[in-house]
Amino acid sequence: MDHQAFQEVVHYHEATKHHLHRYAKSLGYMDWQNQPNPFRSYEGAVSIPLPLLKEDPPAGYLELYQRDERQTQPFQVKTVAGFLELSLGLSAWKAAAGSQWSLRINPSSGNLHPTEAHLILPPLDSIASGVYHYNPLMHTLEKRAEVPAEWWQEMGRHFDTHGFLMGLSSIFWRESWKYGERAFRYCNHDVGHALAGISLAANLFGWKATYLNGLSHAKIATVLGLDQTRFPHLEAEDPELLCWIHHGSGMDIPRSLPEEIIAGFATLEFTGQPNTLSRECVNWEIIYKTARLTGKPDTPDRKYDFAPSGGINAAVASSSAAAIIRRRRSATSFDGRGAVTSNQFLSMLEKTIPRQDCPPFDAELMEPSVHLLLFVHRVREMAPGLYFFFRNDHDAGPIKRSARSDFLWKPVLEGLPLYLLEEGDFRHEAMRVSCHQEIAGSGAFSLGMIAKFRDLIQHEPYRYRHLYWETGMIGQVLYLEAEAHGVRGTGIGCFFDDAVHAIMGLKDNHYQSLYHFTIGHPVEDPRLTTYPPYHHLQNR
Ligand SMILES: Cc1cc2nc3c(=O)[nH]c(=O)nc-3n(C[C@H](O)[C@H](O)[C@H](O)COP(=O)(O)O)c2cc1C
Repeated sequence: MDHQAFQEVVHYHEATKHHLHRYAKSLGYMDWQNQPNPFRSYEGAVSIPLPLLKEDPPAGYLELYQRDERQTQPFQVKTVAGFLELSLGLSAWKAAAGSQWSLRINPSSGNLHPTEAHLILPPLDSIASGVYHYNPLMHTLEKRAEVPAEWWQEMGRHFDTHGFLMGLSSIFWRESWKYGERAFRYCNHDVGHALAGISLAANLFGWKATYLNGLSHAKIATVLGLDQTRFPHLEAEDPELLCWIHHGSGMDIPRSLPEEIIAGFATLEFTGQPNTLSRECVNWEIIYKTARLTGKPDTPDRKYDFAPSGGINAAVASSSAAAIIRRRRSATSFDGRGAVTSNQFLSMLEKTIPRQDCPPFDAELMEPSVHLLLFVHRVREMAPGLYFFFRNDHDAGPIKRSARSDFLWKPVLEGLPLYLLEEGDFRHEAMRVSCHQEIAGSGAFSLGMIAKFRDLIQHEPYRYRHLYWETGMIGQVLYLEAEAHGVRGTGIGCFFDDAVHAIMGLKDNHYQSLYHFTIGHPVEDPRLTTYPPYHHLQNR
């Protein structure tokens, strides 16, 4: 256990709390001159245009959460391209008052998109085995290195399934440009959203994404070539994770890579010069320090057993899973009237519980460690009030003991770990603790994600990132669930940390609120015009 690292990480967390009287440190204004380019490209690397899907996979929305080997597609350029389009591609362009900006399948705090994706592909029908960077703007793969085709025999022996590797990295500057020191948190939320999106989109092609939890940050940097790349100052990509995307969803997959293969990646020649994102960057030192301290070491492979399927499924729109994924958006305001039914509400909560063979949580990030403190405003057949939803059994005792002693802890439905804490109108309170954002009080419900904190990070400081990833994965599921039930969600990274803890009665850092989310009936902004995601590639 590295006590020093633990203390520094706790220091970062404390220093980046927003308080009612003081926000975490940031520039305090938008430096538009230096707004970072949200798209990285590797200049000089061979760029391979990917085809866009002619037809979306036909699976219905609920099939997203079931595994069906019959849908397994071969690994080909067109299927890998389709998977990228439905996980990290563009979802639309918006325009208003003379400016235009793109949205993506994966959400991102402030639409700043710090997450980059890299693929290590075996030889496919028309492209060679190599390390590629995915450029979602152009929907291209930028070839960074050739990988000897023979390595895939070794990979095949190691994993005992066909597959490819996919890595995620973060460019902290993209978020810190706007959010200053708190940005490291947001980058990690975004990784979680992207990981969930990857796991769910992979399932549409009959593939499974398994998180390689044994690998260190250093090894991931080697495999992705990030440690050999000369990045512009403060614009480096920090390695986050590597997944094996594979056939054979029931297979027992190792969670690391053979040493010889990693040593091989260190000898590859990586090409392409990363583009410069801003003319000038600000060095938010605490972010880079915390990134170092939460860098993962090598750890033994861990496997997690989750309970079988839960089975509360309120009826959803008949849209395909892909249609729901494509139309996921963040609500910017709610109508202040619309409700959801209790069945819809329970079904959304249920989807956030990790289940065996159920994406996205069967990517097996970690033991579930995040729970939901719910501000219920308008859920039919349920009293408005404060509720709590446990995503595992073993935190129930400690949380109940450290929470306010006058809470009711009244079970809502037999067999579901949902409890009424206190009846009442919490609309104002929900708004207040979410940085006074109206969307937290004007929807059907909003929530704070309460994570087991101190004990996890004390032993393994890298869990700080994992906890944020887990909250992002929960957020991604809630976004899609909201869309499928005809309402809309929004992730909320801006909240007053300790004000939330005060509502719960939490007095120390054994549990901390890490992310908020809200769901309700959206009001569209009539000033915005929408264009199709890849209209700019029409002539390709
Ligand atoms: C981690 C995270 C934090 C966010 N925080 C807020 C927030 O505090 N307030 C808000 O209105 N939107 C918030 N959003 C929504 C983003 O602004 C939104 O995802 C982004 O503008 C892209 O739009 P889209 O989700 O419709 O694609 C957050 C999103 C994420 C992923």
